[in-house]
Amino acid sequence: MPFKTIIEPFRIKTVEPIRFTTRAQRAAALQSAACNLFLLKAEDVLIDLLTDSGTGAMSAAQWGGMMQGDESYAGARSFFRFESAVREVTGYRHIIPTHQGRAAERILFSSACTRGQIVPNNTHFDTTRANLEALGVTALDLRCAEAASPSLVAPFKGNIDLVALVRCLADNPGRVPFAMITVTNNSGGGQPVSLANIREAGALCKKHGVPLILDACRFAENAWFIKEREPGQAGRTPAAIALEMFGYADGCTMSAKKDGLVNMGGFLALNHDALAARCRNNLILTEGFPTYGGLAGYDLEALAIGIKEVLDEDYLRYRIRSVAYLGDKLTAAGVPIVQPPGGHAIYLDASAMLPHIPPAEFPAWALALALYLEGGVRSVEIGSVMFGRQPDGTEKPAAMELVRLAFPRRVYTQSHVDYLAEVILHVHGLRARLCGVKILEAPEQLRHFTARLAPLGGALIAD
Ligand code: F0G
Repeated sequence: MPFKTIIEPFRIKTVEPIRFTTRAQRAAALQSAACNLFLLKAEDVLIDLLTDSGTGAMSAAQWGGMMQGDESYAGARSFFRFESAVREVTGYRHIIPTHQGRAAERILFSSACTRGQIVPNNTHFDTTRANLEALGVTALDLRCAEAASPSLVAPFKGNIDLVALVRCLADNPGRVPFAMITVTNNSGGGQPVSLANIREAGALCKKHGVPLILDACRFAENAWFIKEREPGQAGRTPAAIALEMFGYADGCTMSAKKDGLVNMGGFLALNHDALAARCRNNLILTEGFPTYGGLAGYDLEALAIGIKEVLDEDYLRYRIRSVAYLGDKLTAAGVPIVQPPGGHAIYLDASAMLPHIPPAEFPAWALALALYLEGGVRSVEIGSVMFGRQPDGTEKPAAMELVRLAFPRRVYTQSHVDYLAEVILHVHGLRARLCGVKILEAPEQLRHFTARLAPLGGALIAD
């Protein structure tokens, strides 16, 4: 094509109005929500970038497919469609549906782990970490060295540190039930993992007799980055690359709310027969019969279609470009972000933007509140509120203080992103006046979801 502009590869058939609010209304909403964006009413948000999970727009094909849902309790036709689509994409033998990713995690972890064990990962997401820690298992993050520097531009900052992985495997014989790699690395900036890194990690695990499990939420975005950035991969389809990624591992947990393009759904896929049988029995306790796993027949239909659609090259090109488009605007204006832009989100580097707010005063949380107050944009803190509390109750600053702006799939257009860039630049201009926050009340686990906070200086933005 002679044209440079990458357009949304769809036209819009159904629209949903978004609600405009005044700054005073947003200040009041923040007060009622105890300065926690999770506690806002969604209708008080103009552009909602809290998560890319379950917030995407389904296609006409998916909505049509839902009418074909077979709601039989056991052995439904929709299950077999789902199973064959997931098997085609992943290549795994046992495909176990779950209502979302964390159910797959809980089932796998409680079937395969015992207290005192260690599970290494490039970076565990919050629910993954919490599900392991709840079982008395240590969740070990082994980020590659490049990942520690937000401003460094490198192609595969999601890679697991292979030297550290070998050390972990060699030093802990019998204590590592499996290793994990999260693609793309969500908590580490949405950064991709190279095919070479997955291949090498798989070989190391095999040598030590330890299975490798992919946390595959964003497998298609990861495959696209491999196609674009890894030598020798440009001519391959995302589907072929994804299949190779899955092939180096022994199974995966999946939140289909991301790269399954559905509003609800997930699965656990495994090659190991005995482990899969244990997981299916475990699933019956809480999720339902193994051919529906907490999902309706119509959910399984939507997932079977979505997991194929997500591998479409026009879709992936647009998807990755729409995130990079915001990244380019922010970088040009000197706003510090994790470089290069990730697959599903832009991560603002709050430590760099707000050096006057120490980690103990939660700079990324404060920045996320300011973005809402000024522009009605909802984002999420990935910093010391989310990760600072240790299992023994002590506080330790998170590795990075980030604000994630996650893009729902196929939902917002380029003008929404232009608006977003304006809001961020405006808040960046006010940065010297932003104040830290303190926690008033929080539960022991996963505190970011329900904690109540307040600005330290009485106001979020000083006069
Ligand atoms: N693993 C990763 C890497 C994730 O990003 C998530 C969810 C999960 C597992 C759990 O999946 O939500 O379906 O139970 N991440 C969402 C987010 C919530 O906003 O990043 P789930």
